[in-house]
Amino acid sequence: MAANLFIETIRAKASNKQLTVGFPDAEDIRSIEAAVILQKENIARAVLIGNKIKIHNLSSDNGLNIDGIMIYDPSVSEHIQEFAHILFEKRKSKGMTLIEASIKVADPLYYGGLLLETGRIDACVGGNISSTGNVLRAAIHTVGVAEGISVVSSYFIMILPDKMFCFADCAVNPDPNPEQLADIAISSAANYQAVTGEQPKIAMLSFSTKGSADHPHVDKVVSATNIIKEKSPGLAVDGELQLDAAIIKSIGEKKSPGSPVAGSANVLIFPDLDAGNIGYKLTQRLAGAEAIGPIVQGLNKPYCDLSRGCSSADMVNVAAICTLMA
Ligand SMILES: CC(C)(COP(=O)(O)OP(=O)(O)OC[C@H]1O[C@@H](n2cnc3c(N)ncnc32)[C@H](O)[C@@H]1OP(=O)(O)O)[C@@H](O)C(=O)NCCC(=O)NCCS
Repeated sequence: MAANLFIETIRAKASNKQLTVGFPDAEDIRSIEAAVILQKENIARAVLIGNKIKIHNLSSDNGLNIDGIMIYDPSVSEHIQEFAHILFEKRKSKGMTLIEASIKVADPLYYGGLLLETGRIDACVGGNISSTGNVLRAAIHTVGVAEGISVVSSYFIMILPDKMFCFADCAVNPDPNPEQLADIAISSAANYQAVTGEQPKIAMLSFSTKGSADHPHVDKVVSATNIIKEKSPGLAVDGELQLDAAIIKSIGEKKSPGSPVAGSANVLIFPDLDAGNIGYKLTQRLAGAEAIGPIVQGLNKPYCDLSRGCSSADMVNVAAICTLMA
C-alpha cells in the first residue's frame, strides 16, 4: 500500500470515530495548524492546551482561524484543584504532596494527561516541543500503564509498496526482559489490528530459528514467546525466528514448518532496542519504507509522543492513529 493511501485510510477511519484529541505542546504553530486541519477535514475534534493569549497571538500572526477550537489554559483553569487531587492520589505513595501535585498539573503535559484520564478528551498528542522523556513521564504518571501490561513501549508502522508491518520496540525500552518483551508483542498486535484492520501475525525475532543457536539471548525470546502463548492464547505468534524465516514464505516453511506465522509475519518484535532501532532505520533508509512513528503504546489511554522535528501533517497523522487506539 502506498503511504498516502494508508494515511487517507487512517484519516477516514478516525473521521468515523469523531473523537477529541488534545495537544499539550500547543504554544507552537504546528499544533495550531494540526488542530485546524483536524477540525476542517472533520478527522477529529481538537483541543489546545496552553497559554490562551500566546495561542491566540500565534494563530492571528499566522493567519489561522481557531474559532470553534477549545483552548484549555492551565494557568486559569477551573479544573486545577480537581486535577491536583487526582494526581496527588496517584502519586502520594511515591512521596508527592498536594502542593507539589498542584504545581505539576499546571504543566500542559500533565494537564493534558488529566483531561485524558478524566474522559474530557480521548487521546493526547505531545512532544513537538517537549522531550520524549517528559511526555512519557507525564503519561505514565497521569493515565498510567494499561491493565495487565508491564511496560510502556512504542511501535512503528512501516509501509512498503506491497506490505505493511508493525515494528517494535524501536524507541523506548533498551533491554526488555521476557515478560516485558511479551507485553510489547501483545500491545503491538492489538494496535496493528486497530490501525490497519489486518490480522496480526507476530514474529519474535532472534539470530536463531527454532533452536538453531544456543545462547541466553535466544532463551529470552523463547521465554517471551511462551509467555505470549499463555497470556493471549488466541494470538498467532511464533519464535524464536530469524528475520528471513519470519517474512519469506519459502524460508519460513523450511525453517519452521507448520508455523501459523513464519513466512507471513506482519508484527516484528525485536529482542532489544539496538536491534529495533537499527532495524527500522535500515528498512527506512535502504528499502525506502515509509516509517510512521514511534507511536507510544502500553498506556491505559492513548498518549502519543512526536519527534520534535515533526510537521503539522505528521501531527495530524499521529492524532488520527492515536484516536484509532482509543
Ligand atoms: C520512560 C522514561 C521517560 C522514564 O525515565 P525516568 O523518569 O528517568 O526513569 P524512572 O525510572 O524514574 O521512571 C519514571 C517512572 O516511569 C516508570 N517507567 C519508566 N519506564 C517505563 C516503561 N517503559 N514502562 C512503564 N513504566 C515505566 C517508572 O517505573 C517510574 O515510575 P514511578 O515514578 O511510579 O516510580 C525513560 O525511559 C525515557 O526517557 N525513555 C525514552 C527513551 C528515549 O528518549 N528514546 C528515544 C526516542 S526515539
